[in-house]
Amino acid sequence: MYCKNKSLCSFKGVAKDFSNYKNPDHDPKGAWIADNPSAASGNENYRFPITNPFTGTVYYPPQGRYWAFSPKRVDEWTKSGKLVFPKEPGKNFMLKKYQTDLRSTFKPVSSVIQGILTASGTKELKQLFGGGSPFKYPKPTALIKMLIEQATVENDIILDFFAGSGTTMHATMALNYETKTYRKCICVQLDEPYTPEDIAYKNQFSTVADITKARIEMVSKHYKKLNKKSKAFDVSCFKLKTN
Ligand SMILES: C[S@@+](CC[C@H](N)C(=O)[O-])C[C@H]1O[C@@H](n2cnc3c(N)ncnc32)[C@H](O)[C@@H]1O
Repeated sequence: MYCKNKSLCSFKGVAKDFSNYKNPDHDPKGAWIADNPSAASGNENYRFPITNPFTGTVYYPPQGRYWAFSPKRVDEWTKSGKLVFPKEPGKNFMLKKYQTDLRSTFKPVSSVIQGILTASGTKELKQLFGGGSPFKYPKPTALIKMLIEQATVENDIILDFFAGSGTTMHATMALNYETKTYRKCICVQLDEPYTPEDIAYKNQFSTVADITKARIEMVSKHYKKLNKKSKAFDVSCFKLKTN
């Protein structure tokens, strides 16, 4: 991935799954999960005794680990209920991690993209055009849509200078529709000619750009039917005269 100004580029990330966060004790701070009170890194100041106020049990961090908080937090968090001590001996105390304390409700997007098959790009074109796919190795719309959703925000302009079958425009419109947002997209495709042997040619496409145009117009019509009012699916195709 390239960018002109790194500070302007970020991936949105993936929404974290909070299904494990619960609030069985009606904690005023809301949903929480039990967190690990110890950490692999620290120093001797973080290997201090913690005494259970109910049982008198003294806890130390496991060998080679440190408490994940400073001594002064013990009283504060015991009073706030973030640290919970068992009333019976032999049990460990619990440290709550509140959903509301989390800095971000998104986790970084994985650089290994799973669950999107390259073959689905060809399958999509077969569904769109019927018969064999007129374009070889199109990208799956889901892949491009995921990347657009990660790297852009509403009203951004997406440029695909090597448009091929027009997947980027299809993905932008699908995202506009699904998220009720409005991103613009510019697709540029050379009028690379086909020969009579090509499936595309047999399907009345004399150049790659004809496929790009046909797909974009088909997809635009599809989403305009679903959402007549929105301008997010308007397209205009034109040929640039190159010298
Ligand atoms: C790998 S394909 C893109 C496939 C596309 N991502 C898809 O999913 O269908 C690259 C396309 O770029 C086009 N192309 C190559 N050089 C170009 C140029 N200078 N200007 C515009 N298009 C170009 C080729 O004709 C080809 O269709």
